[in-house]
Amino acid sequence: MTDADAPRPVLHFTPERNWMNDPNGLVFHRGRYHLYYQCNPEGTIHDHISWGHASSTDLTHWEHHPIAIRDDEAGEIFSGSAVIDHGNTSGFGSADAPALVALYTQASRNPSRQAQSLAYSIDDGMTWTKYAGNPVLDRGTGEFRDPKVFRYDGPAGSYWVMVAVEAVHRQVLLYRSDDLTRWTFLSSFGPERAVDGVWECPDLFPLAVDGDPSDVRWVLIISLSPGGVAGGSGTQYVIGRFDGVTFSADTEATGEAVDWLDFGRDCYAGVTFDGLAREERTMIAWMSNWDYARELPAGDGLLQRGMMTLPRRLSLVRHDGRLRLRQQPVAAPLEDEVAIEAASVDERVTLMERLPEAGRMTLRVDTRDAAGFALHLRCDPAGGDGIVLAYDRQEGHISLDRRAGGDQVHESFPSVEVMPVSGAELLELVIWLDRASIEIFADGGTRVLTDLLPPQRGTALAIEGRGGAVRVERIAVAEAVVPG
Ligand code: FRU
Repeated sequence: MTDADAPRPVLHFTPERNWMNDPNGLVFHRGRYHLYYQCNPEGTIHDHISWGHASSTDLTHWEHHPIAIRDDEAGEIFSGSAVIDHGNTSGFGSADAPALVALYTQASRNPSRQAQSLAYSIDDGMTWTKYAGNPVLDRGTGEFRDPKVFRYDGPAGSYWVMVAVEAVHRQVLLYRSDDLTRWTFLSSFGPERAVDGVWECPDLFPLAVDGDPSDVRWVLIISLSPGGVAGGSGTQYVIGRFDGVTFSADTEATGEAVDWLDFGRDCYAGVTFDGLAREERTMIAWMSNWDYARELPAGDGLLQRGMMTLPRRLSLVRHDGRLRLRQQPVAAPLEDEVAIEAASVDERVTLMERLPEAGRMTLRVDTRDAAGFALHLRCDPAGGDGIVLAYDRQEGHISLDRRAGGDQVHESFPSVEVMPVSGAELLELVIWLDRASIEIFADGGTRVLTDLLPPQRGTALAIEGRGGAVRVERIAVAEAVVPG
């Protein structure tokens, strides 16, 4: 595969060049969303890891900034988070002009050691100074990483809390601090639930159930790799309570052994923004998988490798009597929706000759007289399969088959993902497509599947009923407004 075969996304954040993995230091400050990210300033492999930087006022148009925190002789700058030190607890800023404080993992190679270090910015996140007393939290171990810091304000008091992982022990460790530099141990969580691979990039935050401020639960997000539901990297979440010291899982919250945040292969290391109201809790994840991330084609002649998911607002909802995390993408600019006419479909019919390269598709299909249906995305109108999204009502799942052309990307790329959905007669989906990715939101956003897609030869959209005719109540496609 050549570089030209990996097109730059339209809707998704991607750096101008070079390697990118996890989002870091997500913070909303003075009207701007700051997105830092794991990057290699020197090339397209995972090396010299530093924090890249972009910012946006609307989460869709991103301005690229110079490297924010550069690797040095102490180590690479692995994943972490940023907070606004409003009370100037650290003393790095002032009460009027609060510093942004980043906690990140300083990862040294020789000896192999991972400890948490601090950098601060007194110019609203544009330039950063590493703290002279680094590292600020060192357990003397080699896989202690990914600090996510937040301000806890509750019955137990008001202080900073850090969640980080002892990755190979599959443990989330919680610490507290009054000044962001001195940390004391609070408690640990795990290993439990999905415990294959290593645990990485935890996040912990409160959400109100169905928007009810008197029923607040805490959600712990844990990325793990390998051992994800679709193979390789994946993300689980745990709903529970946090009393300021200990996080305890709500055992009957969801009724499932493991709650997967995403059923695809390419949603990893997702974390949320600091500085937003509880109802606006927003996550961005890396749209890739360590199974093949290092060998993906580097795109568009710019030698760039890596993109993010759409930003997603998170909420907690009761669905079929259980609590579920719901994700709703922050809408990107779209052209007017085009509704497609299709009434009853049995044999395969082409709905559109040219599906937009990027955009949103919403669909509502009544399957009461059928076993399900299959949607062929970017297929050849003459009959080739393309990407196949199928609904099987009996099984109560949808599947996404991205095998066609997948072996050109990487040998472990071709796959069929499966996601349980509520098994109703009427299936409603919201699908965001980009040149090389798909994000599928089902059950009102409580089931999500994110996959990178191989380059496709076809452009058409087709549908067929399976085990009978389906009634297409609505299919509408809105093309993304191409930036620039
Ligand atoms: C997750 C991760 C983190 C680590 C970073 C290194 O993808 O492995 O645990 O801090 O990437 O780039």
